[in-house]
Amino acid sequence: MKVLVTGGSGFVGASLVRDLLGQGHEVVVIDDNSRGHLGRLEGLADRLTFVEGNVCVPDDVRRATEGCEVVWHLAYINGTRFFYERPDDVLEVGIKGTLNTIEAALACGVRRYVLASTSETYNVPATVPTPESEWLKIPDVTNPRFSYGGGKIACELMTLHLGGHRGLETVIFRPHNFYGPDMGFEHVIPEITRRIVEESAGLTRPSIDLVIQGSGEETRSFCFVTDGSRGALIAGDRGTPGEIYHVGTERELPIRRLVEMIADVLSIKVTIVSGELREGGTPRRCPDIGKLRALGYEPEVSLEEGLERTVNWYAQHYLAAG
Ligand SMILES: NC(=O)c1ccc[n+]([C@@H]2O[C@H](COP(=O)([O-])OP(=O)(O)OC[C@H]3O[C@@H](n4cnc5c(N)ncnc54)[C@H](O)[C@@H]3O)[C@@H](O)[C@H]2O)c1
Repeated sequence: MKVLVTGGSGFVGASLVRDLLGQGHEVVVIDDNSRGHLGRLEGLADRLTFVEGNVCVPDDVRRATEGCEVVWHLAYINGTRFFYERPDDVLEVGIKGTLNTIEAALACGVRRYVLASTSETYNVPATVPTPESEWLKIPDVTNPRFSYGGGKIACELMTLHLGGHRGLETVIFRPHNFYGPDMGFEHVIPEITRRIVEESAGLTRPSIDLVIQGSGEETRSFCFVTDGSRGALIAGDRGTPGEIYHVGTERELPIRRLVEMIADVLSIKVTIVSGELREGGTPRRCPDIGKLRALGYEPEVSLEEGLERTVNWYAQHYLAAG
């Protein structure tokens, strides 16, 4: 089967492309490489067609969609810094990209359309671990941070009630904090790793103080990227049309504990100092993944193992960059 992955040279997209190729599919990728890069798709040339294009441009999307049976729509502007600095681009790529991919899918006779949404659509969930039935929220439209989560809420509505209503089989998956080597730099794990490397003078000082955002009591659950893409694949392949599935792990831990674990990988003793928390943050986040588990999913990579691989990758990068 021929399938399209938008955002396929991105962090999650590239892992999904590997999984899809592993299933024997022919894969088309469309990406403008604004955050993606071809290095992530190295060695996969055989059954892969790369279209360098913009999901905001209908012709680019149409060209990539021809002949595909399934569309996996992942292209989006990710990275917390960009939600504040470029909310206009976040919304433009989110809304136009989703509309264009749905319209191309309908025009090209695509059977199934799978959307990557996000846990950010919950803002502050009332229930943790959070089920998919939790209400989605934009608590303050004047805060540019919600360009990301708000944009995804609109994408979910378009997927279900535009694409789905007009005949596409639609499935939505909501990733919860995927991480891994080469995940980009605007995320908590690369950021904490960078600061420990820098503030320990390139890992030469054995102990340091580290100021973090908030008290560190805020919680998250982290999912290694290969588990994440496999979960997305299970949701997209086996999920019931019109349904939404969490992808993540149920191991909830305070950011303070995450910092300690990163410091352990780097063999640096860190004393954590509480700092300011940016407005719009979420105190607790952890998914209930029972719905995906019922489709046969189980995370395989422990946080210890995943952090070892990720933190060492970033530490080497920062040390080499000086
Ligand atoms: N990584 C996570 O933990 C996480 C969590 C929640 C949701 N998601 C969602 O999963 C998807 C993939 O996330 P990711 O972490 O791989 O991010 P990423 O930034 O690595 O990947 C997104 C890709 O989209 C591409 N892109 C951006 N604008 C484009 C445009 N106009 N045209 C074509 N391509 C464009 C980028 O170049 C990039 O390769 C996104 O939709 C994201 O919102 C990811």
